[in-house]
Amino acid sequence: MKGVIFRGLESLVIEKCGMAAWESLLEKNAPDDRVYVSAKSYPDEELVGLAQDVAVALSLPLQDVLKAFGEYLFGYLLQKHPTIVDTFDGFSSLIMGIDSVIHVEVAKLYQEPNLPKIECELVREGFILMQYYSKRKLCLCAEGLVYGAAAHYSIDVTLDHVECMHQGADACVIEVRYESTNI
Ligand code: HEM
Ligand code: ZN
Repeated sequence: MKGVIFRGLESLVIEKCGMAAWESLLEKNAPDDRVYVSAKSYPDEELVGLAQDVAVALSLPLQDVLKAFGEYLFGYLLQKHPTIVDTFDGFSSLIMGIDSVIHVEVAKLYQEPNLPKIECELVREGFILMQYYSKRKLCLCAEGLVYGAAAHYSIDVTLDHVECMHQGADACVIEVRYESTNI
């Protein structure tokens, strides 16, 4: 996983729990003197370990932490790469463009990224069917990112995770229902 994602988690933890909390999480889950550089890759297990300990520190289920992290991460990535998000005129075009536009641009900026496969079908205005596949199984993070995107456009969204890789499905299927304001 790229350092930029770790830096997003770092920023969230420091904002909510302070620098000392982050330092102790890092000490436990990463090699000595670890400093995350956005463009470099680090072991996925390190991110999972950190997220698990955030969950323990806040007495929340890991699922809740991953979702909250995904939501925060959208704002963090937006601030890092505003021009990528600016190409979209609204929520549905952004969701439809995750694989074909956003992550294509990401692959130009970051060497050898490990990106999920996200296929979206606009069933009708207000309803998108999303299929998520990744060996990292970060579907809850994907949900959080979708919530973050909805917050960015100030619209309401409801997600139904009808099939999940964590329950043995080949891919996750997420039904995305949103206010269709045609902006
Ligand atoms: C990685 C989904 C928007 C940049 C990921 C991952 C997920 C994801 C789930 C984790 C990797 C995995 O699952 O295998 C989404 C969704 C989005 C979205 C659902 C919109 C709702 C964005 C945006 C940017 C971005 C706006 C930047 C402008 C990245 C980067 C990575 C990543 C840099 C890390 C790649 C790596 O570690 O090698 N995305 N993403 N994503 N995404 Fe997105
Ligand atoms: Zn899932």
